[in-house]
Amino acid sequence: MARISEEVINDILQKTDIVDLISTRVALSKQGKSYFGLCPFHNEKTPSFSVEPERKIYNCFSCGEKGNAITFLQKMDNLSYIEAIESLAEHANISIDFSSFKKENPHQKLFDINRDAENFYKLYLSSTKQGVQAKEYLKNRGIEETIIDKFNLGLAPSEFDLLYKTLTDKGILVSDLHDLGLVKQGKNENFYDLFRDRIIFPIHDEYGNCVGFSGRTYLEKDNEQAKYINSPQTVIFTKSNILYNFHSALQEIKKSDRVVLFEGYMDVIAAHRSGVVESVASMGTSLTTDQVRLIKKYTKNVTICYDGDPAGFEATARAIKLFEQEHMKIKIVLLPEKLDPDDYIKKYTPDALKNYINEKWVDHLEFAYIKSNMNIDFTKMLDIEHFKKTIFDLIKNTSNTIIESYIKRLSNDTKVSIESIRQDFNQYTKRNIRNITETQKKALPIDHKYLVAERNIINYFMKDIKYIASFNNEFGDLFYINPIARDIRMVIEDLYAKNEAETGIMSVTEEQVIAALNDEQLHFYQTKVKYKMVELLDKEFSDFFSVLQQYINTLMQKDLEEKIKNAPTVVEKIKLAEYRDVHIKEVKHGK
Ligand code: CTP
Ligand code: MN
Repeated sequence: MARISEEVINDILQKTDIVDLISTRVALSKQGKSYFGLCPFHNEKTPSFSVEPERKIYNCFSCGEKGNAITFLQKMDNLSYIEAIESLAEHANISIDFSSFKKENPHQKLFDINRDAENFYKLYLSSTKQGVQAKEYLKNRGIEETIIDKFNLGLAPSEFDLLYKTLTDKGILVSDLHDLGLVKQGKNENFYDLFRDRIIFPIHDEYGNCVGFSGRTYLEKDNEQAKYINSPQTVIFTKSNILYNFHSALQEIKKSDRVVLFEGYMDVIAAHRSGVVESVASMGTSLTTDQVRLIKKYTKNVTICYDGDPAGFEATARAIKLFEQEHMKIKIVLLPEKLDPDDYIKKYTPDALKNYINEKWVDHLEFAYIKSNMNIDFTKMLDIEHFKKTIFDLIKNTSNTIIESYIKRLSNDTKVSIESIRQDFNQYTKRNIRNITETQKKALPIDHKYLVAERNIINYFMKDIKYIASFNNEFGDLFYINPIARDIRMVIEDLYAKNEAETGIMSVTEEQVIAALNDEQLHFYQTKVKYKMVELLDKEFSDFFSVLQQYINTLMQKDLEEKIKNAPTVVEKIKLAEYRDVHIKEVKHGK
């Protein structure tokens, strides 16, 4: 194959205005010599994507994606290297004959034949008497003309060899039809069509090539037949690495930065009717890593919406595992009353499905909680113990906020007090979730120096996880004077965990922290936390640390005095006083 010379490529890049190109997809604003915007390759709230017109490159400081106009188009529009160059050349008004550069896809002939078959089925549905009946069936299921067009639905005739005859008459080789699984050979050596009397769902790969078909029965007489039959595995069709409707949904997937995953064809169509257009289906078989990676090329956000029956529930659990392995962000929709999305639309409305998907989703923790909760007999101690441990394992590496909320839920469901569940959790996980918040509610007017210490210490948390560890160890994960400071600490802690899981390295960058903070936290960070000094010395950390120890000390003492005063019996007063003395001694000796 001929190659495009470096000179030509450089010329094209030279004549391409990268800011123009990228601003058709990303809103950019000028800052100094560069332009900034929200990175199109990952989800973010504050811009870390920059375009430099001078060097003609783009660069995301947050996710690390960088390159030139060619790589941008390759990535954004899913183009090959040559296709990206071709598109740029066109815009730059450079005429090159690209025909010799393009490698003919070795399977092109088979894609073309499948397209012929697709057209045949389509025509058969739109212009025959049988088609009228099939369309009646579709209409009864809520599928009108526009949807038929959108999904290229077709119909396989009842004649046993009409497709075979029509396509071979056009000069297509029977061996090719056979390889594609469109025809089979009977005992008498005659060829006959695989699909007969079935509504046809063409299946496309991510580039839009028609790679196979599925056919659904629609006539009463066929009720005993397999509901769907699919093209067999062929050189161009492996069911396990294709997702139904992926190509058609691709632009919408990119635009909304999420994919909604269903089990079947009818579900994707139902979702489409409800306005959830970034929909694909795994076609009834277990989801595979190939399919997950296909999705991940375009978005990290997936919403799983499998059937609401027990089988759908199990399939969801398996799918979650695969998505987690690829570090995707997962939402799960559990449809009620064992309905599948298509049934749901029928029973309720298309809008109701859309709202259910967008609003009633749960996260994977919640899903796991619901799943393990289902088979528990709450009158059996062993069941409860087992349940608790399952949930502890589930939440032990998450943020404190999450842990606290599940501890509350566990307490609610098992009718065991929050305190003992928390103790069990600490014992089981060796974590130390202390309930300091209660004491803090009655906080005194807060001395400025405590607030300052609490803010400044945040800078250390970003530098090294060890500072968070010693902080939590001393004060407990839930400690705060100003709750925003605590929340920022938790965000940072979560980022360490996430980065470690993804890269094996325990570190965070300021950019990441900034991207992860909400508006209020960000404002606090930028106005009150950001440290002016270059070096963060251990010595200063200890200073802030002891100020906070002082705070705890005063606070706890005050609280105990209050309790002693109000204790109903003398015995209790003495006990509390003893506790106070021991505690204060502990703090004084640095514990
Ligand atoms: N499937 C299949 N072969 C079958 C049954 C199912 O390939 N014999 C696949 C199809 O991709 C189907 C998906 O599994 O879309 C889900 O199956 P199911 O929920 O039974 O079908 P629906 O999509 O709900 O179709 P319908 O509403 O027409 O029953
Ligand atoms: Mn269905």
